[in-house]
Amino acid sequence: MLQISSCIPDRQDFHLNFSRVRCREEPTMPGLLLGDEFPNFEADTTIGRIKFHDFLGSSWGVLFSHPRDFTPVCTTELACAAQISNEFTKRGVKMIALSIDSVEDHHSWIKDVMAVSSEADSTMPFPIIADDKRQLSVQLGMLDPDEKDKDGLPLTARCVFVIGPDKKLKLSILYPATTGRNFNELLRVIDSLQLTAQKKVATPVDWKPGDKVMVIPSLSDSEAAALFPNGVTTKEVPSGKKYLRYTKV
Ligand code: BEZ
Repeated sequence: MLQISSCIPDRQDFHLNFSRVRCREEPTMPGLLLGDEFPNFEADTTIGRIKFHDFLGSSWGVLFSHPRDFTPVCTTELACAAQISNEFTKRGVKMIALSIDSVEDHHSWIKDVMAVSSEADSTMPFPIIADDKRQLSVQLGMLDPDEKDKDGLPLTARCVFVIGPDKKLKLSILYPATTGRNFNELLRVIDSLQLTAQKKVATPVDWKPGDKVMVIPSLSDSEAAALFPNGVTTKEVPSGKKYLRYTKV
């Protein structure tokens, strides 16, 4: 599990090679892995100071990082996230963004974001973490070494973490700062994560709710027949192996 306290760079690391800072005790630590408990960090946000697990409560959570306030791609992403935030709420998912500027900058940027989302009079429906010292960005492996600010320090990449009600990491994606994400795709993967957390199925390419799902390989045919009252259909393939098993849930 990631040990936050051992990963904070000292000033020398910060100036020498910020983007490549690693925990000294664990030089090859790969960062957060699926199934790891998400760190219960404390942070200042646009809704005040939070402790992450308390913020999540018993909900699912999605934490997404942005390179910087007042940057064009980030503004379009946040505006979209704000516009479709009700879809995350419907799914019981608490949203939280992160950018490496101050709470004060965030509040000022939010006015632009809401104007771009055509909701200039509304409040931002989720908080933004102020990671102005880049501590969380370093600890969670979110820096993009290719995109630097005017002082030569790396900006945050576009990272997404989906956290389950058990506080464990269920999904992570990492885009470079120069590529904006698709927040509707995030809703689609959350639908898949929530379904597959409940039922012994997996979702095929481009799946969307209501489509057929696949029976997971570890289930025998008799177990599948008992578990899926809507029936299981198997697609014939040249190998003769009966692994393409579909059902409706
Ligand atoms: C942007 O949000 O537009 C952006 C931020 C950092 C690097 C490139 C683009």
